[in-house]
Amino acid sequence: MWDMSKKRLLTGLQPSGSLHIGNYFGALKPFLDVCEEFDSHLMVADYHALTTVRDPELLRRQTVDIVKDYLAAGLDPETVILFKQSDVSAHTELAWIFECLVTMPFLMQAHSYKDKVAKGLEANVGLFNYPMLMAADILLYDTEVVPVGEDQRQHIEYTREAASKFNIAYGETFVMPEEKILKSVGVVPGTDGQKMSKSYKNTIPLFGSAEEVEKAVMSIVTDSEGDRPEHVYAIHLLLKSKEELDPLYDAYKGQYGALKKQLVADLEEMLSPLRDKRNGINDEDVHSVLAAGAKKATERAEKKMKDIRSKIGIA
Ligand code: ADP
Ligand code: TRP
Repeated sequence: MWDMSKKRLLTGLQPSGSLHIGNYFGALKPFLDVCEEFDSHLMVADYHALTTVRDPELLRRQTVDIVKDYLAAGLDPETVILFKQSDVSAHTELAWIFECLVTMPFLMQAHSYKDKVAKGLEANVGLFNYPMLMAADILLYDTEVVPVGEDQRQHIEYTREAASKFNIAYGETFVMPEEKILKSVGVVPGTDGQKMSKSYKNTIPLFGSAEEVEKAVMSIVTDSEGDRPEHVYAIHLLLKSKEELDPLYDAYKGQYGALKKQLVADLEEMLSPLRDKRNGINDEDVHSVLAAGAKKATERAEKKMKDIRSKIGIA
């Protein structure tokens, strides 16, 4: 059942709302580009999301939506094990075991916790323990490679620490995973020129309607210096080569509206097939993909847990 010829890879996604083209070029596409070289697992981290989301309908909706997004963007659930964290109870079980091995001062150094406290916000214990749940996600599957963005690097260090604490206490059990910081396009600018981010409300939606995409593109800020609208050009470069774009930007020097219209047309060409594909995926399809993924993931996780439970003395 394990494909021994390929290295094992796992990554997780928080179900946190509609994706934008920054997510697509910065995370989703780089993941799709590498996942078939590995024995890959993609997990929807719904229990991690519970550290911040208190609305059950929203959590359910966003979980289904993110799966639709990935399927529409080209993820093949026959090649990648796609599952929901909460469907495999071994994740929370193993997190507890790690929590009994690491110390409070160690977890207090985690950025996710420190940032919250620095902002004067109260952290729940789930947020405090977040890195140990993530360690369980990764280590349960003997994961060797973890594709993540730069902001998650520390969590992988925490994962290695949990693995080595366990290995020292109970004997060699876990493989040491390595982060794979995905070769991204760098930072995709938003309509205001800052990093595109859902928190800044400056996004171009990946699955928005043609009208929404057009409205967002037409609102991209263009500074008056120079002849080329830099943010429009930077986004355009994600779709076309410099060689294709430069003659166009020369021909329409200073005509920002015309260049934006061309970007709208090029985005539409890329986004409309994705949108159509997504519209053809219903909630039932998602539930059956997740059920199949849960079955495969549980089988792998339970095999590992058997060894772990025996080593710690509860079985
Ligand atoms: P947001 O900033 O919209 O909240 P997230 O923090 O949820 O986005 O990011 C999800 C993934 O998308 C991460 O891997 C992140 O690196 C990537 N990503 C988000 N915004 C951008 C961007 N503007 N450019 C490149 N990658 C991005
Ligand atoms: N913490 C990650 C994020 O917010 C999501 C995540 C949860 C994850 N479990 C994981 C990523 C395991 C990689 C591996 O982006």
